Amino acid sequence: MVESIFLADALATTALGEKLGKMLPPHSVILLRGDLGAGKTTLTQGIGKGLGISEAIASPTFTLVNEYHRGRIPLYHLDLYRLQPEQVDSIYPETYWEGEECEPGLTVIEWSERLPYLPESYLQIDLTYTEDHQRQASISTVNADFADIFR
Ligand SMILES: Nc1ncnc2c1ncn2[C@@H]1O[C@H](COP(=O)(O)OP(=O)(O)OP(=O)(O)O)[C@@H](O)[C@H]1O
Ligand SMILES: [Mg+2]
Repeated sequence: MVESIFLADALATTALGEKLGKMLPPHSVILLRGDLGAGKTTLTQGIGKGLGISEAIASPTFTLVNEYHRGRIPLYHLDLYRLQPEQVDSIYPETYWEGEECEPGLTVIEWSERLPYLPESYLQIDLTYTEDHQRQASISTVNADFADIFR
């Protein structure tokens, strides 16, 4: 399934995230791709809102992974922008999506194209700029059935 959604402004990006945060079950993984400033963090802020997290969500630039435990399920927010592939290995991203050593939650990964390996199932969201500086989200599922998200 590939779904294309037009995002007129940052509020629309947040609203899409909110919807995902409200309904995705534990062990879900969202892989985010898109150029600098495409809206990956904005979408993640919406996801946090949908999960009921009231803390401010900022990109985990220095910490690599930000964990939020106050929502419906935990949110694990990773941003791989500044990492070399060998550094990505050493943060063991599977720890978050397998949820054996941590509480199963929702894992969101910015710059997911830098992952050396992928989860078994995930939601891929690609954010692109439109001509008028708005955004388009292209959402596809890999080994996961999230068909009811968009109904
Ligand atoms: N649909 C949209 N239309 C217009 N502007 C948007 C839209 N969604 C988000 N923005 C704006 O784009 C800017 C950059 O967003 P954001 O920081 O989320 O991008 P990012 O993809 O996380 O960037 P980076 O690659 O640096 O991590 C913000 O000012 C945000 O408000
Ligand atoms: Mg970002």
